[in-house]
Amino acid sequence: MNKRNTVTAALPYANGPVHIGHLAGAYLPADIYVRYLRSLGKEVLFICGTDEHGVAITLKARKEGLTSQQVVDKYHLQIRESFQQFGISFDVFSRTTHDLHHQTAAGFFRKFYDEGKFIEKETDQYFDPEAGQFLADRYIIGTCPKCDFDKAYGDQCESCGTSLSPSDLKSPRSALSGATPILKPTKHWFLPLDQYQKALEHYVLDNHQDWKPNVYGQCKSWLIGDGLQPRSMTRDLDWGVKVPVEGADGKVLYVWFDAPLGYITATKEWAIQKGDPDAWKKYWLKEEANGETSLVCFIGKDNIVFHCLIFPAILMGHGDYILPDQVPANEFLNLEGQKISTSRDWAVWLHTYLEEFPGQADVLRFVLASTMPETKDNDFTWKDFQARNNNELLAIYGNFVNRVLVLTEKYFHRQVPENLKPEAQDDHLRQLIRVTAENAGKSIEQYRFREALATVMDLARAGNKYLADLEPWKLWKSDPDRVASILLTALEVSSALSVLFEPFLPETSHKLNQMLGIARFNWNDLLHAKTLVFPGHPLGEIALMFQKIEDDTIQAQIRKLEARSAEIQQEQGLTKSVVQPQKDLIDFESFSKMDIRTAKILEAIKVPKADKLLQLKVDTGLDQRTIVSGIAEYFKPEEIIGQEVLVLVNLAPRKLKGIESQGMILMAEGPDGRLYFVKGSAEIPSGMSVR
Ligand code: 2FM
Ligand code: ZN
Repeated sequence: MNKRNTVTAALPYANGPVHIGHLAGAYLPADIYVRYLRSLGKEVLFICGTDEHGVAITLKARKEGLTSQQVVDKYHLQIRESFQQFGISFDVFSRTTHDLHHQTAAGFFRKFYDEGKFIEKETDQYFDPEAGQFLADRYIIGTCPKCDFDKAYGDQCESCGTSLSPSDLKSPRSALSGATPILKPTKHWFLPLDQYQKALEHYVLDNHQDWKPNVYGQCKSWLIGDGLQPRSMTRDLDWGVKVPVEGADGKVLYVWFDAPLGYITATKEWAIQKGDPDAWKKYWLKEEANGETSLVCFIGKDNIVFHCLIFPAILMGHGDYILPDQVPANEFLNLEGQKISTSRDWAVWLHTYLEEFPGQADVLRFVLASTMPETKDNDFTWKDFQARNNNELLAIYGNFVNRVLVLTEKYFHRQVPENLKPEAQDDHLRQLIRVTAENAGKSIEQYRFREALATVMDLARAGNKYLADLEPWKLWKSDPDRVASILLTALEVSSALSVLFEPFLPETSHKLNQMLGIARFNWNDLLHAKTLVFPGHPLGEIALMFQKIEDDTIQAQIRKLEARSAEIQQEQGLTKSVVQPQKDLIDFESFSKMDIRTAKILEAIKVPKADKLLQLKVDTGLDQRTIVSGIAEYFKPEEIIGQEVLVLVNLAPRKLKGIESQGMILMAEGPDGRLYFVKGSAEIPSGMSVR
């Protein structure tokens, strides 16, 4: 392993609170990794902050009636607090609106510009004629060409993770006004990614076959598909880092140009805070790193292309910087079988979780670390949360530690006993500590956090079995010396568990260390089979590490989730525009082929064995004909006798449930999904043409 470790976690947009998907995707795995490295005594710097530019922010500001600055101020604080509460142990948590960051990002841009590394180009960009502004990235919404998700953004589809350009979207519309955008020319600076294609192929395909298959696979499909295209590094927007060149008024840097550079700025900020402003350099600059710094970037799957291709291209273009050695991206976490959705409030928010489960951040860390979407999308369910807490944390780990401490208190007055009568079983268990530390460590180094956690839990299981097999409570009267050795061994295992679980459950380990009277965490001690507890050492007060979670609590969470989501859907159903985007243009001839007439319903009966169909007799002015219509869910036959309607009379006849339907009644779909008649008028007799 490298001497020095620069570890970054994706900078979350400061446009909303963070939820379990964020935690499981990037921050928890990063924190586990970093805590493990620190426990090994490695030099490590853990970097994060909020991403405060881009359309994600300006859209939120519009929605909340705030300025962009107010939005980022609000969410920066909230996100920072949530991470703290969940023990995510960043060394620095910065913001991209800081001046220092504007200087860093503008400095990068200017260097590229001065060295002629951008292509300056005027291109047609989408413009909202109603809002009077260009539509960058998330200002433009449309249907994803890859997965048909109808709310894909102009830069990315959040459903399938594909990175897009506005022109890729089908049926584009403005997120500001809903208007169909027009194309207008504007000047931008493009990073010629095609010129970096060879270098990126070498970097990823030749040198990083060690990357996770989901990451490597996504990069490969980008690289070997149509090849990389120049990508604009500027936007027509008034929020962001101003483009630092002449003739660029009203333009800012593309958020994906500036955001990853935020890692560098954050490191500079850390260095300044510690009074050694140059200390950042060995974490980023090739020359100062001297081959001894490894850069690991933890991200979610929607950030893969940006961190594996675009950010490295920017770093290569600059020339002085090291490149990411690992980009261990996770896939998506679902909730109760459905995609997490901020807009539908289908999420477990970190700040609300702690209101309902105070002091139980570690339980969520444990469950998320056990179900992390490491190789494929995975599901969080409240039932699983309950089961893992009750059957693993409480029944295995908590039970073992509690038994050991209670017995030591009872027999040895809360003092670590002497090793008075050791036996082979004790040695076996002690050896298992070292083996567990080796194996769990290897798993963490390979970014297999679930496997690491399961390995550690197996040691707690082995501890339980040891006590259950030896039954010290039955030996106390006849063989107290043996009991002393058993409890000493069990205390040693408890201490090892505190160290081994610390990356996953930091708060619990601190509690346990207090009970055991241990001061620090050191994975190396375990690897070198060093003793952690010493005879005669006094133990602290015993406290419970975990609580049972009852069925009622879990049911209440599920009900709350469903109720909130239904409420939101209802609100959105009433307020949201349900106007469908316009279909492709047709010529007049196509329209005039349709023969639409005013008509009247004369008779209506239900079609047997068909819930949705009514058989109607309709006066079309031309004739009285049979039409089968799919409206039975919304109208009783008797209600619609005499109804004025419009009918497409020259639709080719077709059979429905064996009845020939000779035309179609025109209906409009209401915002509630019901069908309504498009009414004719009592003044117009049947048979009149609609044009
Ligand atoms: O997807 C996101 O939330 C982005 N704000 C991540 C940025 S990561 C880095 F580049 F800053
Ligand atoms: Zn998609």
